[in-house]
Amino acid sequence: MLLKLLQGVKLDKIKSLTGMLDLYDDGDKTNLPAKLFYLEKKIRDIFKGYKLNEIRTPILEDTNLFIRSVGGASDIVNKEIYSFNDRNDKGIALRPEGTASVIRAIIEKKLDQSNHKLWYMGPMWRYERPQKGRYRQFNQAGVEILGIPEGMPEFEMISIVCSIISEFKLQNCTIKINHLGAQKNKELFCNALVKYLEPFKESLDEKDRQRLEKNPLRVLDSKNNETQDILRDAPSIKEFIDSSSIDLLKSIQNNFSDICNIEIDYSLVRGLDYYSGFVFEAVSSELGAQDSFLGGGRYDQLCAKLGGKDLPSIGMAIGLERFAELIELKDSLVKVVSFLNVTGNLEPKAYKIAHQLRSLNKNIILDVHLSEGSLKAKLRKANKNNSDYAIIIGDDELKNNTAVIKPLKNELEEQITVSLDDLYSFFKSI
Ligand code: HAM
Repeated sequence: MLLKLLQGVKLDKIKSLTGMLDLYDDGDKTNLPAKLFYLEKKIRDIFKGYKLNEIRTPILEDTNLFIRSVGGASDIVNKEIYSFNDRNDKGIALRPEGTASVIRAIIEKKLDQSNHKLWYMGPMWRYERPQKGRYRQFNQAGVEILGIPEGMPEFEMISIVCSIISEFKLQNCTIKINHLGAQKNKELFCNALVKYLEPFKESLDEKDRQRLEKNPLRVLDSKNNETQDILRDAPSIKEFIDSSSIDLLKSIQNNFSDICNIEIDYSLVRGLDYYSGFVFEAVSSELGAQDSFLGGGRYDQLCAKLGGKDLPSIGMAIGLERFAELIELKDSLVKVVSFLNVTGNLEPKAYKIAHQLRSLNKNIILDVHLSEGSLKAKLRKANKNNSDYAIIIGDDELKNNTAVIKPLKNELEEQITVSLDDLYSFFKSI
């Protein structure tokens, strides 16, 4: 009955959710999906070069995991988490970041007494106000080095960041570094900051007033000019951390500044509660308001806080959509050949030839045009998908065991008809 009623009724189209992208690579190298997929592949290769092992955790977790790690007062948990109750009334969240899940998995596998070098890649969710570079579903590639206290891992982490920035020859970007001290230094600094800001409370905007109450260090991140004026005379973390922490910052800056632009920024705080010690963020002036394309730091207490052993750790995550905006894809060296079967029939013999060609040269992309259509239409499509050559097989060619090779990029070269043996030799040679 309902079905009958619905027949003839024009239904509204169902659209994707706000802030969530369909990533479809249509072959245009200037589009975000093409860049993103390329980036993912390259970053995987770079991670392999550092002997990192891959870890994939579920995208759904117990909501408490993020409340206990990222922090109940953080924007991410307070305002942005995608959470719901499942059929058993259990609080479930779509992960807003990867670090908490990695540590949860390591504790669960009883691997929290040893060292690990791990990487992951995948989608994260945050209910933010969408704008350029800020989505509700976005992708991160992350690295976590577990079990080793401050020292070499800090250098390894910045080395990975510099390798990625150099690989893509990014210009106009800066790695900002800071040290939040041990937990007790961070707390002392936080108390001093609150004491300084309290008298200015009425001059702060609503957002900064809330930050002051719930997460005072975040006031340092304020985009409000008046707040930044007030902060000019505020206490600096520099007065609360040991000289060894400042030495570490200077040493990292000295050792890597010939490769990447590194700036010590004592006002850099991170939006997640679990950090103490060394923290960093990479920003680019080409990105606009959402200029941070990567961030991370040390989180020595997180594992114990989630019920595991003391596991001093450091990590970082790259925002892949933002990073992809910064790269340009060059024309690939791989040749594309379009295979045009214009026999007018479903000719298994033609497909067998295509299969044979593919096995002869793995560096060539062979695009077999599967749909029916005229030679003209197929050639138009071959040009559109940037093919270097078209191999054309029609009824005559099939009968005579020949094929036509038509160059599509070089106008000076003429098309030729060759025997199948010559076609195979040609294919091996390009
Ligand atoms: P995060 O700074 O919150 O750190 O995120 C890392 C990166 O993800 C950001 O620098 C940004 O590029 C990207 N990102 C964040 N939110 C969005 C969004 N709504 N849309 C697009 N991109 C976004 C973390 O997530 C930590 N788990 C990093 C870490 C790993 N720390 C230690 N280990």
